[in-house]
Amino acid sequence: ATRLADPVPPPRGQPADRPEAGYALAVIVPTFNEAANVARIVATLDAALAGIAYEILFVDDWSGDGTAAAIAAVARGRADIRVLRRYGRRGLSSAVIEGMMATMAPVVAVIDGDGQHDERLLPRLYALVASGEADIAIGSRYCARGSTGEWDAARLRTSRLATRLSRWVLKVRVEDPMSGFFAVRRDRVEALLPQLSGKGFKILFDLLSAGGPPPRVVELPFRFRCRAEGESKLGPGVALDYGVMIAERLISRLLPARFVLFALVGSLGLGVHLAVLRALLGAGAAFSRAQAAAVVTAIAFNFLLNNSLTFRDRRLRGKRLLLGLASFYAVCGLGALANIGTGSVLFAAHSRWWVSGVAGAVVGSLWNFAASALVTWRK
Ligand code: GDD
Ligand code: MN
Repeated sequence: ATRLADPVPPPRGQPADRPEAGYALAVIVPTFNEAANVARIVATLDAALAGIAYEILFVDDWSGDGTAAAIAAVARGRADIRVLRRYGRRGLSSAVIEGMMATMAPVVAVIDGDGQHDERLLPRLYALVASGEADIAIGSRYCARGSTGEWDAARLRTSRLATRLSRWVLKVRVEDPMSGFFAVRRDRVEALLPQLSGKGFKILFDLLSAGGPPPRVVELPFRFRCRAEGESKLGPGVALDYGVMIAERLISRLLPARFVLFALVGSLGLGVHLAVLRALLGAGAAFSRAQAAAVVTAIAFNFLLNNSLTFRDRRLRGKRLLLGLASFYAVCGLGALANIGTGSVLFAAHSRWWVSGVAGAVVGSLWNFAASALVTWRK
């Protein structure tokens, strides 16, 4: 009997059946109420990008002014112009991210739809990234010979303040980390997706501050033009989003995720401690013995949970598990001394009892975390 061949799965990763498969560059154009600018931006991009295999991908947040229809009109008969329409969503950053993920082109660039960015820079931004010379190539208003054009003083001040704030967070020196005009490898964005906030306007800043090894950045100067038509969507809400993003990044830098887990495990350990203490007291044990047994159990519990959660990437197994447990007991013993010492010193210096207690606990936990990361779960 003949056997039917197993069904062949569709090819993965190589969407040869999709029209965009062959593009070297995708230009993402976020739009919100830009109907009057659409034809112009397409014409300028076509003129600037001759010789490059590019597609233009608009991401439109259901503009009420007929932007999508205007795009459809210029896109007639062209497979290299598409529009991704989002309903019930708003946001420049998230629009750009979704646009980048909707193309298979290896290099993606972003440009405003209102004509303010100088599209003649695009071939050089593209070449810098495609050749591997830069991880991110930025059209910059602030670097030498760059310019903000005809901005009023207030906008200039705000923009400069935002740029200064960004330096607290960024590990790389970038003159214009707020620019909305840049090119980047798509796989780099993909790798950073879980860390991107996607909020607000500052997609470039988001990418630059997302973590991982600092990107190699090249900035090319351009003069920020006046808006062709319509008006800016940058309002107070956008500034607020930006502030929240800076705060988030600072907090996550000061409080690494690992420490948060460690502290969480520690508070569960306190629950274990109290449960053991209560059970042993209930069984008639003397307090000091019950407390000692509770400490030993809680530390072992913390060790096992930290081993499989907090330090799962350095997880100890087999013989090293027992050695690890022994070193964790030693670390926590010293941590307890640090805790008691700090508390006593503060109390003797007339701090309130609970301030002394909390300070001791904080110092003790920081010690436990740092020392166990360096000793018990050393790399
Ligand atoms: N899809 C989508 N959704 N697009 C949006 C949204 C949105 O919520 N908000 C704005 N856009 C589009 C606009 O239609 C325009 O094409 C582009 O994003 C830039 O928006 P503008 O409103 O013109 O911003 P701007 O000129 O004030 O701000 C520019 O400079 C900033 C730095 O000063 C942009 O380039 C920003 O990205 C940049 O951070
Ligand atoms: Mn604009």
